[in-house]
Amino acid sequence: MIYLQLALILAFSLLFFFFAIAYALIGLKSFVTGAPPVPSPKKEIKAALRAVGLEKGDSFYDLGSGTGRVVLLAEKHGANSTGVEFSRLVSFISKINLGIRRSKSKIIRADFLNMDLSDADVVYIYGSIRLMERLEEKIKKESLHLKVVSYCFRFPNLKPIKKIKTPLKKSVFVYKI
Ligand SMILES: C[S@@+](CC[C@H](N)C(=O)[O-])C[C@H]1O[C@@H](n2cnc3c(N)ncnc32)[C@H](O)[C@@H]1O
Repeated sequence: MIYLQLALILAFSLLFFFFAIAYALIGLKSFVTGAPPVPSPKKEIKAALRAVGLEKGDSFYDLGSGTGRVVLLAEKHGANSTGVEFSRLVSFISKINLGIRRSKSKIIRADFLNMDLSDADVVYIYGSIRLMERLEEKIKKESLHLKVVSYCFRFPNLKPIKKIKTPLKKSVFVYKI
């Protein structure tokens, strides 16, 4: 009996260790550059998309699209939805996720800070303080005109046109630039 208990403890420890390593590897680049691969909960995304007033036919980008959850929900709103994700593994997982759901949306594996976003009407971001600073610099430098909806983090210098509290009591900031 004691051997069975020891075997179970060992098996669970190995499993935990395996997942910890896998998560660290997937997120390493994201942690180094800013935002870890933590998906926004669905009800939070819905609240954010309502707040920004996403409309049918809008050109929508999720900047740092993780598993593709936001991309799929924006597609359901009728938007032309694209995810941008620089992690090779995470973007691969999100492509499978979209494929399983027969989604028409696409995932681009790229750094959104180096991407042409001139055709975007609405962008969603769940990033970090640092990423918001860098996105603000990009928007100003490239004179982009778009709506930005940001989960949890605000731009350092731009003023939001709207700020809401989500069902989980997080802040969502909406900008019209
Ligand atoms: C907090 S997760 C958010 C995922 C998804 N947007 C959501 O809300 O469910 C942030 C994601 O952004 C990605 N990311 C961070 N910086 C990026 C960059 N400069 N270009 C592309 N992806 C980036 C990370 O790899 C991570 O998957």
